[in-house]
Amino acid sequence: MRILMDGSDADVFRNLNDYLPLDGVTTNPSILAKGKGTAEEQVLQIANLLDKQQTLHVQVVSTKYEQMVEEAKRIIEAVSRNVFIKIPVSPDGLKAVRSLKGESINTTVTGVYTTMQAVMAAKAGAAYVAPYINRIDLTHSDSEIVINQIVQAYQTYGFSTKVLAASFKNTRQVIGVMEAGVEEVTLSTDILKNLIHHKETEMSIEAFTEDFTSRFENRNEMFLK
Ligand code: G3P
Repeated sequence: MRILMDGSDADVFRNLNDYLPLDGVTTNPSILAKGKGTAEEQVLQIANLLDKQQTLHVQVVSTKYEQMVEEAKRIIEAVSRNVFIKIPVSPDGLKAVRSLKGESINTTVTGVYTTMQAVMAAKAGAAYVAPYINRIDLTHSDSEIVINQIVQAYQTYGFSTKVLAASFKNTRQVIGVMEAGVEEVTLSTDILKNLIHHKETEMSIEAFTEDFTSRFENRNEMFLK
């Protein structure tokens, strides 16, 4: 399973990437609007930190077909050919996805709330679809049902489109999409930290140190010279 950071802060990514094996970054216009510096600076700073295996998904801000396609090409030119262009699922968006697919430009269809949106995105040629897990749950729908239906439909009909699940509010939702067999998730920094954090673990670590130092003359490391 690939795990990406949903954010745009290069320093935060650098710190998390030091200890969490991250597979890339996703941004969107709302994330960039909250970040420091211009949108372009944020995207380029993050892009410069990524290695060849790490992917970057950058969203167009335009909502009309022609502008979406032009904006996608400007992003590719400024960042790299390997970037995935995020395009919201809308009539203009799907038209842009089909057109970009024709030029071998990879797209990630985002803002997905339903199974059929995901199926239509796959038929349009999206490389990824990004279902919004928590936001689906907030609409009184059940994200686990939706995500299972998407995974099942892609398997049944042999779509190569991958699922990049987004919009999580807790690790339980992450486990839910893992159980469904989702290939990738993108997580906020808080949830990324929570993937390994457990209060009991911290207490266990403290107890190990305390037990050892109280028995062995205040040493908290072994084989010291
Ligand atoms: O990548 C999509 C994401 O940013 C939306 O997440 O937390 O605003 O629902 P959220």
